[in-house]
Amino acid sequence: MLKLRPRRLRLNENLRSMVRETNLSVKDLIYPIFVVAGENIREEIPSMPDCYHLSVDNAVELAKKIAALGIPAVEVFGLPEYKDEIGSSAWNMNSPVQKAVAAIKKAVPELVIVGDVCLCQYTTHGHCGKLCGNYVDNDETLKLLQKVAVSQAEAGADIVAPSDMMDGRISAIRDALDAKNFVNVSIMSYAVKYSSGYYAPFRDAADSAPQFGDRKQYQMDFANSREALKEVELDLAEGADIIMIKPALAYLDIVSKVREKINRPVAVYNVSGEYAMVKAAALNGWIDYKKIVTENLTAMKRAGADIIITYHAIDVAEWL
Ligand code: PBG
Ligand code: ZN
Repeated sequence: MLKLRPRRLRLNENLRSMVRETNLSVKDLIYPIFVVAGENIREEIPSMPDCYHLSVDNAVELAKKIAALGIPAVEVFGLPEYKDEIGSSAWNMNSPVQKAVAAIKKAVPELVIVGDVCLCQYTTHGHCGKLCGNYVDNDETLKLLQKVAVSQAEAGADIVAPSDMMDGRISAIRDALDAKNFVNVSIMSYAVKYSSGYYAPFRDAADSAPQFGDRKQYQMDFANSREALKEVELDLAEGADIIMIKPALAYLDIVSKVREKINRPVAVYNVSGEYAMVKAAALNGWIDYKKIVTENLTAMKRAGADIIITYHAIDVAEWL
């Protein structure tokens, strides 16, 4: 007779739940929102079904719902009213992001607010920094990112999340925040951000596609894994509080490696393209939406993620 029978512990749901190694919780999730100028705007984003462009008033209403569902945090992205060469609307206190952060903080103070710090939505050329010819000038860009981070902290952000992939931005942003006494504003670094085709729906949603070339001179080559650890080491040394890896699903090997190496929280960004593929297949009836989302997000946690930034957050919170 067989002595070892792994199936014994799979006989019913209660047994399975006792030996389950990973549990998805609503507390793991961050919901990204897109804010625009104007009032009473709620327009669905074509490439991201069930995600909306929201004016500040509607963003506040949604934030209340998110908090009521038990989701601990939102990440705020904005579409500005004007763009220029250096992306100056990114640090304008009257831009949609700054206004939404302030209004959400006032209406739902316990909700953690993450501000995405970048320039691509705000520059006419769509690159994530200041151009010098066709080159994104690293050190000049750092000065602008400092302004963006400080403006978001002034608006009330609890966490700033730089997604630009310039070298040295974590220490530059930490210095700028500390100089303004924002010592308790955390930095969640998009430390390992690959140059990825999975960002396409987001670039439509945020109107942030580069007008020439691509982002390969600053975002990482998806063929590389050791380089991810290098980026993580640098960001930890510069003072990142949370390390993010992006995208999620095709990069779970990286998540697992980073998790083994570090003692700070690991986040993953389950990006727009990953979301859109699942939604599209579900809308066609080709997959079971709830099953696939649960499986995908559980896999992210199993790989080692503590935090999952995901457009599925509201759906998941409603199921759990
Ligand atoms: C901006 C930014 C991007 C995303 C988050 N911040 C796009 C990009 O780098 O082009 C992608 C998010 C998503 O695809 O859901 N730097
Ligand atoms: Zn950018």
